[in-house]
Amino acid sequence: MAFSLQLGSTVLAAGLLALVTAQGDTLGLSSGFLNFSTANFDLELAQEAQVLVSLKAAGGSLDFLPWSYLDVRAGDGQYHWGDVTFRYRHVGEQAWTSGDSSQARRPVTRVTDANSTVLAASNMAATLPANASALSITRRWLDVDGDVGLSFSLENTATTSIELGSLGFPAEFNSIFTNYTAEQAQQYCVLSDPYIGMDAGYIRVSPISGSGAALVVTPLGSTPLEAYRNLVEPYYDSTAYGSQVFEGLYEWQTLTLAWAENEWSAAEPWNKPVSKVLAPQETLTFGLRFSLASGGIQTIDDEVQALGVPYARGIPGFILPVDLPGQLVVHAGAAGAVAHITVDPAAALTVTLDSSTTPDQYTVTPSSAAFGRARLTITYTNGAVQTVHYYLVRSGPDHIAALGAFLTTEQYYTNTSDPFGRAPSVISYDYSVSAPVLQDMRVWIAGLSDEAGAGSFLAASMKQAAQPNTDEIAKLEAFVAEVLYKTLQPPGATAGSTAYAVRKSIFYYGLANYSYSPAIDWTTWESWDQADAYATDRAYDYVHVAATYWALYRAGRAYAGVLTLQDWSWYLNQSYSTVMAAMAQDSAGDWLVGYATDGLMGETVFGALLQDLQREGEAWAAQAAALEAKMRARAALWSEMEDPFGSEMAWDSTGQEGVYYWSKYFGDEATADKTLATVVGFQPTVAHWGWNGNARRYWDFV
Ligand SMILES: *[C@@H]1O[C@H](CO)[C@@H](O)[C@H](O)[C@H]1NC(C)=O
Ligand SMILES: *[C@@H]1O[C@H](CO)[C@@H](O)[C@H](O)[C@H]1NC(C)=O
Ligand SMILES: *[C@@H]1O[C@H](CO)[C@@H](O)[C@H](O)[C@H]1NC(C)=O
Ligand SMILES: *[C@@H]1O[C@H](CO)[C@@H](O)[C@H](O)[C@H]1NC(C)=O
Ligand SMILES: *[C@@H]1O[C@H](CO)[C@@H](O)[C@H](O)[C@H]1NC(C)=O
Ligand SMILES: *[C@@H]1O[C@H](CO)[C@@H](O)[C@H](O)[C@H]1NC(C)=O
Ligand SMILES: *[C@@H]1O[C@H](CO)[C@@H](O)[C@H](O)[C@H]1NC(C)=O
Repeated sequence: MAFSLQLGSTVLAAGLLALVTAQGDTLGLSSGFLNFSTANFDLELAQEAQVLVSLKAAGGSLDFLPWSYLDVRAGDGQYHWGDVTFRYRHVGEQAWTSGDSSQARRPVTRVTDANSTVLAASNMAATLPANASALSITRRWLDVDGDVGLSFSLENTATTSIELGSLGFPAEFNSIFTNYTAEQAQQYCVLSDPYIGMDAGYIRVSPISGSGAALVVTPLGSTPLEAYRNLVEPYYDSTAYGSQVFEGLYEWQTLTLAWAENEWSAAEPWNKPVSKVLAPQETLTFGLRFSLASGGIQTIDDEVQALGVPYARGIPGFILPVDLPGQLVVHAGAAGAVAHITVDPAAALTVTLDSSTTPDQYTVTPSSAAFGRARLTITYTNGAVQTVHYYLVRSGPDHIAALGAFLTTEQYYTNTSDPFGRAPSVISYDYSVSAPVLQDMRVWIAGLSDEAGAGSFLAASMKQAAQPNTDEIAKLEAFVAEVLYKTLQPPGATAGSTAYAVRKSIFYYGLANYSYSPAIDWTTWESWDQADAYATDRAYDYVHVAATYWALYRAGRAYAGVLTLQDWSWYLNQSYSTVMAAMAQDSAGDWLVGYATDGLMGETVFGALLQDLQREGEAWAAQAAALEAKMRARAALWSEMEDPFGSEMAWDSTGQEGVYYWSKYFGDEATADKTLATVVGFQPTVAHWGWNGNARRYWDFV
């Protein structure tokens, strides 16, 4: 382990002090940093606060923490690893006393700890509320066999027992895309995901580039991951916390009863909320361990097992149709062996041991009437507890049938007096009030277009391609005739000079004499007027319509007699024509519909359509060739781009589907492989989004 104390940092001194002043610097950055190297990591703590501000693989360049944004993350209420939040009460009391080390930062008191595994230690009292002093917290940064450890020892200094009802360790990672281009975000940022599995819980942290070592955070000692709580931070434009360029941070919560009793009382927690009682002078220690998955993101699960953390793999996963028994492979690791397994609710499923040669293999069989969440609790011989969460659903065919039935009855809107021309249609539905959504400030949700408004009729249609039902198809044909190819897609309307355009919404704000709900705020950008709603400049919206036609073509082509208003060839032609409208170019070769050259959500259907056009033979050969040429032109653009996967939003990877599909189709293996390697793609110009009020508002509401 190497150690050095560095006063001041040229990086931070170099001109960002103005920002620091604006947001405050209670971390004490000007007092410098504590640098350490362990066998596996290079790390830095802010010297005054002793929170972690930089964490890299030894000798590596990727920082798992947002070091380069530190100057604008140095204010009160901005969380870092090393912070702690808690709630306790004296036994017998009702009200909880809270502490949060980030809220009013003061330099912590350095503590000498002769143990050579201790990198730095401090007592945190100065940075915690004076009225929460019954708990004395000593924090240690540790070298744990070359990994980095973080531990908190909590001593009850009161003369009575106290109940600890919440304990959380804020988790900071460099997932701040603000002001980065797509290429920069790939180079600098990481994404994290928790497994809320109690003693087997961990956080996996993946570099967005898909290459290089990944990070895993696991319990050090007994520190169950009981919940992963979203942290509230003040918003500053400099990083845009809580926006689509910086979604926000969470904390590893190891005790949650105080939250379950209050803020979360209406929710069903993943794990049983627990508290712990500390007798006077009793000390409890919790900790976390930071380790590298040196072989990259594909080796994260191996690393968890190598650390001895109990590990369970579900096959085919953790969502089980009731007619499909799952397999569960359990590696007990350092926890010894499985002592017993319980199920909650008990009748939801049965677990039978097939093979106890390490690892144990179990068959998980849902009961036929089960639906919804079910939790397995595995207790190991060393006392460790792991929870595994299942979601049980109907059998595939039953599920699809129920979906089709609901969409074409409960969600079938038939009021043909609707002045927007939305009937008959499968319209958005608010399950919380069991009613169709006929008005929404985001007009497209009530306007049968964009993702949120088209999803219902798209699902009802796609269902017919897999499991046709004559009554449902009749309702969808009526929707196509009376709404889709009449108003949503006005025949003869133009996008540039192209027919078969698709509108962004057919509901809008500002229709004279329509009684718009006074409970809705109609003043934001989302409440488009007719001109904006009827715009046809969004290629994403064409996919829903093309897929709807294609699904009805498939049903009609395979099952004689299910179509009554049009024949299959009409639907095939409509689908083809809508795709070509999305792909319209002017004589200069410019693409006329916005996003046409991005990968589009659901455009796998374009590929299925192309195959069908080819299968239909000579009569459709010209259409097949024309559609294929458009896709080839798009794939050629992507092959030139470093990061072609983006979409509208900074973290979107929705471009991947189309980019992968067509790169593969045209034999561009390099781009296809890049699609698989990259964790996520980005809109190439994310820079303008972070502080864009519209983008923020949109995601606040969606
Ligand atoms: C400490 O960290 C800073 C910032 O990363 C770096 O510039 C400096 O070289 C480090 N010092 C030592 C002694 O490792
Ligand atoms: C130092 O700390 C380690 C890890 O907590 C512990 O196992 C060891 O016993 C300690 N050594 C001493 C001398 O206290
Ligand atoms: C404890 O102190 C904090 C300020 O540090 C204050 O916000 C809180 O209301 C106080 N709580 C009680 C119970 O007095
Ligand atoms: C990001 O860009 C916005 C807009 O130009 C600016 O207000 C903000 O300060 C920038 N943030 C950083 C950290 O440079
Ligand atoms: C049908 O829509 C019209 C126009 O919005 C409305 O006046 C009427 O009340 C609706 N009818 C029903 C049964 O909801
Ligand atoms: C709105 O209602 C008024 C009064 O009934 C009527 O005179 C007017 O023509 C209506 N306007 C439209 C655009 O329907
Ligand atoms: C088929 O689509 C083309 C546009 O792609 C259109 O011109 C033609 O009229 C359509 N044919 C039928 C029979 O609808």
